[in-house]
Amino acid sequence: MTITVKINGLAHAAAAEPDTPLLWLLRGELKLTGTKYGCGIAQCGACLVHIDGRPAYACVTPLSALGAREVTTIEGLAGPAADAVRAAWLEVDVVQCGYCQGGQIMAATALLAGNAKPSDADIDAAMQPQLCRCGTYPRIRRAIHAAAQRLAAGGAAAAGSASAAGTPDTSNSSGPPGEPGPPRSPSPSSRPGS
Ligand code: FES
Ligand code: FES
Repeated sequence: MTITVKINGLAHAAAAEPDTPLLWLLRGELKLTGTKYGCGIAQCGACLVHIDGRPAYACVTPLSALGAREVTTIEGLAGPAADAVRAAWLEVDVVQCGYCQGGQIMAATALLAGNAKPSDADIDAAMQPQLCRCGTYPRIRRAIHAAAQRLAAGGAAAAGSASAAGTPDTSNSSGPPGEPGPPRSPSPSSRPGS
């Protein structure tokens, strides 16, 4: 059957079964490979996207659950929070191998869109579902604080935008399928390399 989904501001008609995971469409059909396949069971965060501005795991979100909701991937992430996060990631030199980092940036941007000045505890709670086998957690935390400072100073606009599509809508209060659940891993402060 044909299913139409809205991704990064564009409508895509996909020939797929209703239970096909969104991640399959993103990577296999649309070649939006910034969204990664890690565990496939909502346990690592590598596939994190935004659905109507809220974080969601693409690996466990069936196409049939999307309806008219807007999917944003790392390729389409835009807005002041996204700009500040991207600039801070470079400033702090967060990335090691990079595999998890698309998901990390999606999670950090969602955090800052709703909380412009997060505490360490806020960061740990928001980022805990995001795994990084390279142990970049301390740099991620520093970068989120740096991004918050950029937002406060209005530095995101001056830093320029690497964005492509519209700002994710954070107004939707109903969580879509695939929304990250409670933390499932040790806190960053107790992880190796913290
Ligand atoms: S691939 Fe690991 S949470 Fe989706
Ligand atoms: S930077 Fe390598 S997995 Fe996170």
